[in-house]
Amino acid sequence: MRTKNNGELRIENVGEVVTLCGWVARKRDLGGLVFIDLRDRWGITQIVVEPSNPNYDVAMSLKSEYVIKVTGKVVERESKNKNIPTGDIEVIADEVVILSTAEQPPILISDNADTLEDTRLKYRYLDLRRPSMQKNLILRHKAAMSIRNYFNEHDFVEVETPVFGKSTPEGARDFLVPSRVHKGCFYALPQSPQLYKQLLMVAGMERYFQITKCFRDEDLRADRQLEFTQVDVEMSFVDEQDVQDMIEGLLVRVWKETLNMDIKTPFIRMTWDDAMNYYGSDKPDTRFEMLLQDITELANKTECSFFKDNIASGGKVKCIVANAANKYSRKEIDRLTLLAKKYHAGGLAWLKYENNEFSGSVSKFLTDDNKKEFVETLKLQNNDLILIVSDKLANCNTALGALRSTLGHELDLIDNDKFNFLWVVDWPLFEFSEEENRWVAAHHPFTSPKNGHEDMLLTDQEHCHAKAYDIVLNGYELGGGSIRIHDQNIQDKMFKAIGLSEEEIKNKFGYFVDALKYGTPPHGGLAIGFDRLVMLLTKANNIREVIAFPKVNSAKCLMSGAPTEVTDEQLEELGIQIRK
Ligand code: AMO
Repeated sequence: MRTKNNGELRIENVGEVVTLCGWVARKRDLGGLVFIDLRDRWGITQIVVEPSNPNYDVAMSLKSEYVIKVTGKVVERESKNKNIPTGDIEVIADEVVILSTAEQPPILISDNADTLEDTRLKYRYLDLRRPSMQKNLILRHKAAMSIRNYFNEHDFVEVETPVFGKSTPEGARDFLVPSRVHKGCFYALPQSPQLYKQLLMVAGMERYFQITKCFRDEDLRADRQLEFTQVDVEMSFVDEQDVQDMIEGLLVRVWKETLNMDIKTPFIRMTWDDAMNYYGSDKPDTRFEMLLQDITELANKTECSFFKDNIASGGKVKCIVANAANKYSRKEIDRLTLLAKKYHAGGLAWLKYENNEFSGSVSKFLTDDNKKEFVETLKLQNNDLILIVSDKLANCNTALGALRSTLGHELDLIDNDKFNFLWVVDWPLFEFSEEENRWVAAHHPFTSPKNGHEDMLLTDQEHCHAKAYDIVLNGYELGGGSIRIHDQNIQDKMFKAIGLSEEEIKNKFGYFVDALKYGTPPHGGLAIGFDRLVMLLTKANNIREVIAFPKVNSAKCLMSGAPTEVTDEQLEELGIQIRK
């Protein structure tokens, strides 16, 4: 239908007769001449229709977003537009044909429009016409191609795994699909292909990958959707380093092929303990400093009884220091206190150090010696704000971690051009669930304990460490994985350690535990959140920006209205009755 696209004509094409198709981005009627900005996925070309043209009336009748076909001659422009690649030329139309008319669009098809996100999502097909959204989707495609090529070149096989299966234990709630044939029975949509990929290792596939949809019924956030895409990987006869090297190679390739950017490897490796102690997060943003500091010893020397009582009962006192005393009023600090409490701190103590003087909620408890020691230990400078949490170590860390991240953004400490990758390694194998009052798997229950920790599975869960690793980028968990348990006895012990009875193990994972009996190679892998990867590549601040048809936080699709009620007949067929 067309001979060229709207992004490719240059000065060299002058004199050619071309046919172009696209949408009317803009029409101007200037002194008899009609100018049309014709848009397609590749760009914009200026079309000129002269009054003598037999299709002049057609051109005059055009409105925004009409779809047209234009045939004409490429000429050099008199006044060039340096802002677009086709800005040196224009096409003098011979023929203008309307292929499709359009109603006035409810949103402006422009990257400069400040349209409400809800409206954008309701008319997503129009929103996706905007160049920036097309750029995001194209970059997503490029990243996927890059990933497929990389794995193909490294002898991986892409294997599709079922969407209708049995529950997989990734820790979130399952989406269930009722079976019409087996009334009362449900398929669970995969939270990840975890069990299948391990079975593929038992099956001798050696190197598997898949770019695949996963489903988790959890609250939506800026970096979470109900359905999302994983780059899922599994390899046989590997240790942690082998998997990490393979993934580093992948990320180098993706960054080169999408952004033409060289990223340096090997990535930093940080133990989980260090991440928590220094950054207060298991996904530390290392683009800025402001590390958490332990001032337990110092705090114990002050007259402050709530520090001392906490320390006496085994707690810690930790702080962060920001050179921003003048930027945080009492009211602002009240806001930070609420944030600290939300992240499990009992409260937030604070000090300001200005003109060699201390002020703040705990300054009255400091002797002159204390003050001197604070200045020396924390290397205080004029205008420093010291935010202090006195609590159990874990609470100090999470609360200060949240404050660090908030202050990092508020004080503009983050260099947005940076891509700081790191591995968080040496994870605890278990975490204690206060809600369920039992130990649960910190990753998933197929994660291997560190060598030598196998005997602690049932006796000392707290100190068991895992052969698990997360890949972190700019404060986001990009992916996670582990070396798996390949010994049936250890797998059995692991299930028991998280409180599963023989019966439950058999019902939930019988087929899987059975498979381990028949010659299981040592294996391990990882899954990268593909939506998050593309979000970070495009520097978007929400994964919705890189997903064609996402759900909003209320778990709805604003375009289709899903989820919607179904007919009584459909329910009847499935043997389901809705409780009102
Ligand atoms: P995990 O549960 O850590 O590991 O998931 C891997 C990665 O998937 C992404 N992710 C999500 N992205 C968007 N929305 C969500 N709701 C969501 N949940 C997770 C994250 C995360 O790091 N089977 C294991 C992997 C393995 O052990 O090999 C797994 O699924 O980027």
